[in-house]
This record gives sequence, C-alpha cells and structure tokens, in this order.
Amino acid sequence: MLLLWSVWSVTLLLLPPPPLEAAEDDVRAGCSTAVNDLVYIVDGSWSVGFSDFDTAKQWLINISSQFDISSHYTQVAVVQYSDTPWLEIPLGKHQGAAELIQAIRGISYLGGNTQTGRAIKFAVDHVFSASQRGSVAKNHIAVVVTDGKSQDDVVDASMEARAQGITVFAVGVGSEITTSELISIANKPSSTYVLNAEDYTTIDRIRDSMEQKLCEESVCPTRIPVASRDEKGFELLVGLNIESKAEKVPGSLLSETAFALSASTDVTENTRDIFPEGLPPSYVFVSTLRLKGASAKLTFDLWRVLSKDQEVQAAVTLAGRSRSVTFSTTSVTEKEQRVAFKGFQDLYDGKWHQLKLLVRPRLVAAFLDDELIQEAPLDPAEPIYINGETQVAKKRGTDVTVEVEIQKLRLYCDPHQSDRETACEIYSVVRRSVSSEPNRGGRGGRLQLRGRSTRAARPARTHGFPRREGKRRPAGTRREAW
Ligand SMILES: *[C@@H]1O[C@H](CO)[C@@H](O)[C@H](O)[C@H]1NC(C)=O
Repeated sequence: MLLLWSVWSVTLLLLPPPPLEAAEDDVRAGCSTAVNDLVYIVDGSWSVGFSDFDTAKQWLINISSQFDISSHYTQVAVVQYSDTPWLEIPLGKHQGAAELIQAIRGISYLGGNTQTGRAIKFAVDHVFSASQRGSVAKNHIAVVVTDGKSQDDVVDASMEARAQGITVFAVGVGSEITTSELISIANKPSSTYVLNAEDYTTIDRIRDSMEQKLCEESVCPTRIPVASRDEKGFELLVGLNIESKAEKVPGSLLSETAFALSASTDVTENTRDIFPEGLPPSYVFVSTLRLKGASAKLTFDLWRVLSKDQEVQAAVTLAGRSRSVTFSTTSVTEKEQRVAFKGFQDLYDGKWHQLKLLVRPRLVAAFLDDELIQEAPLDPAEPIYINGETQVAKKRGTDVTVEVEIQKLRLYCDPHQSDRETACEIYSVVRRSVSSEPNRGGRGGRLQLRGRSTRAARPARTHGFPRREGKRRPAGTRREAW
C-alpha cells in the first residue's frame, strides 16, 4: 500500500504542468510574471579581476531570482564587455532558471579596456532588437554593471537606448567610478536608476534595492505627477473611474476637490485593467478621506482586490466601532494574512484625514496625518490573483457601497515616497507644522511645509500590539526556491 502510494506521488510529480492557455485565468501576477526583456551589460575589463568577476556573475544570478525565466515572462541576456562587447547569452536562449544560472556561471572573464558606450550601443542595436518574441515584451530593461570610468563616450549610446524605450540602470562598483558618468548612462531620476556598491565583496548589500527597483520597473508602468517629479504608481481615482462615477464635492482645503460615494455608486473594475502586472512587493497606499455619519461606524473595505473566488488578495479595512484599520494581504504559508492596527480614534471623528500604509516585504506601517500609529511584521506575501475585481468602499463581505468622501486614493511603488508624501492637505497638520515653526522667511504656508515635514521626525505613537490572524492553506503552493 505504502509502495503504491509513493509510486502514485512520483507519477504526480512527473506529470507535465498544465498548458498555459488553460491556466491563464488563474495566474498570479507580480514581478515573477512580468513580461520583461532584461539585458545585463557587465564590465569584464582588467581592473575587475577574476574573483570579482565571479562575484558579479553571482550577483546577476541573485537579482534574476525574482523573475520567472521563460518565453512567457522574463527573458535575460548577458553582454560582457571590455574593448569590445561580447554577446554571452542572447535574449530567450535559456528557458528556465536552472539553465540560465548555469549559462551565467559558465561565462569566462574577458579582460581588456573599458568601452562602456560601445557596449550599450551594441545592446541597443543587436540584443534587444533580436528578441525572438519581438514587441511582446512590455518592459525593456538594461542593467549596466561597471567598476571604472569608460574610455569612450557613454552619452550618445545611453540617449539612443532611452529613445528606443529601454530603461537603463547603472550600477557602479568601487571607488574608481565617475558618478557623472553613471548619471548620464542611467534614466532619470538618478536617485532611482543609479546604484553604488563599495566593492564587489559588498555588492550583495544593494541586492534588495536592485530587486525592488527591477520589480517596480516591471509592475508599475504608470507615473503620477507629484510636486515636481513623476512617481511610479497607480492613481486609483482615475484608474477606477471614481471621478466619473461619484459626485464632486469640496475637499479638505479650498484648493482640493473630493468625490462623494453614495449607496448607488459602484466602484468596481477588473483587477487586470488596474494592476495588469499585480502589486509590487513594496508600496505606499495613501488615501485622504472623510468618514461622516454611518461610514464612521461600519466595517468596510476602503480598497480591496478580490480573486475570482472572492478571496481577498489585498485590502484596507476600516472599522469605526473598534477604531481600527486592518491591512490584508496574501501569504506564502496561509490563504490570507491580516494585521489589525488599533489607535485610529481620530480617523473616525468626521473630519478629513490622510491614511497611509507603508507595505514592505516583511513589514507594514500605518500612519494617520503623518504620524506613525503602529508597525507590524508581515509574512512574505505571494503575487496576487488578477482574475477578479478591485473595489472601493464596500461593506466587508458584500457588494454594498458605503458613503464616504474620497479626495486621494493612490498606490506608490517606491516605498521612499512614504517620507515624501506628507499630509499637507490636512488642515490640522498644516496648523501643527506652522505653529511648530513660526517665522520661516514669511513664505506661503504649503510650499515651505512640503520640504519641512519630510524631515520632521515626530516621536512615534504606538498603541499596543497589533493582532495577526490567518487561515491556513494547503501546503505545496509555495514558489520554488532558487
Ligand atoms: C547571492 O545570494 C546568496 C544567497 O542569498 C548569498 O549568500 C550571496 O552572498 C549572494 N551573492 C552575491 C554576490 O550577491
């Protein structure tokens, strides 16, 4: 019997995976399923050295691990360069991670001078354009890893790359690099697209940051104009058509407009249209809203993403009775994980407030009007199902819309936007900041506040420990580790 059972399980393991077409509808979307053409352009000049070159290869393997390597999702190419560029791995040559890892490990070090501009031009002219799947790839990303100053010009080649819609990251390793050169190689802003490592032995320290950035690039195609810069993210008032579905009402300040949702408003859209590539592993959820009357007492999802089977993929739930805010997300070990934050008294007082959640792979922090209310650990989350609907202001577990006024509803992909996104649209915050800094050049309130409050580090208020709950889910659904 035991033997029969193990034969049966081995057979199960050997069965081929279901064809993609059939499973299409049930696919989870996230970084791993982004459709990228990703080209690594790696410095193989003499200054790097054999052992550091091996480290660089391992680093490339590491930062590729969040992607599903296949002709459907991410394809990787590697160009090594010194005096001339050398196509080590063409796009789409290797299907599957194991094969790709082996191929990267097998690259042998060239040695020579550093002609970075030439290598970038080569990637633009011959590598991206030779992708077997043509224009299917949604994102074309180049990562240039170099340890020194280029002996040729990098500006023209980099401009050409951008003109072709290729996003270029520049990774400088060691002290010989010229920052201005990295800045001209990379896309703008350089705070996003230029990375630095002290040397190859510490390059592992910028792994998380590189992975996060590659992931943002893959799943956050849209940009929201904020102050003087464009932030990658999702403007949900527009994406979910709230502007055309709800009535316009005055916002928190004279200069602001908000939207009043009534019981007959239905803000529901297909998740596939809103988050076609899923959610990034880190993001900032920001909403400026006013809860009046019944909405201050009900339990409802301010924002939620449901699967086709009505399972919560992500949600921010408000509960006036318990004065709490609950964040729900997926989990690699359970069906759903929830973190309940207490201490949101003010949110339910009938006035305008800004609610902000900073979501990181292992941590979620909740803010009200710029003050940290609480933070709590998270289990690793899984990519979300995008086959269901994304909704706003729905009573928990129902399709009933709760009456609420919403002025802002955004998801920023860069977690650092949490520091920049201040609650300057909230009157009490403006007042608080002004009174704490009286005579500052006598300029208009809002502008000076913007800069000020990003630096303002108020002591964190915490209110007890958050509660975590979760439903177990069958084992065996974990993603394969590298
Ligand atoms: C690659 O990842 C492994 C496992 O996390 C780590 O031990 C190693 O230091 C990383 N290497 C580089 C060069 O990033």
